[in-house]
Amino acid sequence: MTRLRSVVRGCGSYLPRTVVTNDDLAARVDTSDDWIIQRTGIRQRHIAEADETTSVLGIKAAESALRDADIDPSTIDLVICATSTPDHTFPSTATQIQAGLGIGAGAAFDIQAVCAGFVYAVATADKFLTTGAATRALVVGAETFSRLLDWEDRTTCVLFGDGAGALVLEAQPGEGHSGDRGVLTSQLRADGRHREKLYVDGGPGSTGTTGKLRMVGKEVFRFAVGSVTDVIAQAFAATGTTADDLDWFVPHQANRRIIEASADKLGIAREKVVLTVDRHGNTSAASIPLALDAACRDGRIKRGDLVMIEAIGGGFTWGSALIRW
Ligand code: ACO
Repeated sequence: MTRLRSVVRGCGSYLPRTVVTNDDLAARVDTSDDWIIQRTGIRQRHIAEADETTSVLGIKAAESALRDADIDPSTIDLVICATSTPDHTFPSTATQIQAGLGIGAGAAFDIQAVCAGFVYAVATADKFLTTGAATRALVVGAETFSRLLDWEDRTTCVLFGDGAGALVLEAQPGEGHSGDRGVLTSQLRADGRHREKLYVDGGPGSTGTTGKLRMVGKEVFRFAVGSVTDVIAQAFAATGTTADDLDWFVPHQANRRIIEASADKLGIAREKVVLTVDRHGNTSAASIPLALDAACRDGRIKRGDLVMIEAIGGGFTWGSALIRW
């Protein structure tokens, strides 16, 4: 049986020019390189300058993905941007990326699922592409999380970074089995009862301010390792695949310990895990496309490879998508 699949045509990313090391942070708050590396695996992160807004980072990542796909921006009829740090409350960052690329047709909108935003965005684009509602989608994860941080709070400010990544997805016919190229399944979940564990203490509808990120780190850690693996098991079950079939596991890059504990729990070999948290920190919705692009650029992810992406974010929201590259 033939069916439409959302096939990856191109991948790209962009990082702000300024690199901030753990030692740089230790000069500002009471922390150390050793503590940060041991608890998180993070060695450095990129931090956006004032002129590097989320849409600026998103446009550069999108341009890089369009170059990789070797297609003209005017053929894109859907732009989705996953972000929690839009340039403005409105219009959406997706429309600013669309305009920056010179695209004036099709649909564009943001998705807000915090660190799970890119998985939500891929799943949403897949629904558009496989129902014929769009033909070529640009899916961007772009963040300037540094703007949400309380730089006096050592328990959070050491964890995050800024950046953007993007995929070009195109509707192509497939056979309807797990050997097809494209998005094979996506699994999305949310449980808003966990709000207090990870949130921003402001917003246009409450305080009228942007607010700062607040987190109960231990609770997030426990939930991330304890509960989130369900969406990966469900992706395997939905496609008749197993951890052994995977070529690459590309999880949200929050913390090396969370990633390795999740991979171990699922029986995914450590050498299949793509890790960029050491260089990028946690870039929220941008972390997965940044990691995908790093692994494509260095030749690890190749056409035909089976790639699992997975993330958990504030809400909590979480999800997975299994993609044959
Ligand atoms: N430097 C030095 N010491 C610190 C720092 C720091 N940056 N931050 C906290 N500490 C201290 C604490 O004050 C505490 O000191 P105390 O024992 O005297 O009270 C001690 O270190 C231990 O603190 P814990 O919070 O118990 O440390 P823990 O081992 O839980 O590690 C961490 C903290 C890294 C945040 C961990 O809980 C974690 O990774 N949680 C997941 C959160 C996460 O990754 N969130 C990202 C956003 S959500 C997402 O993307 C999914």
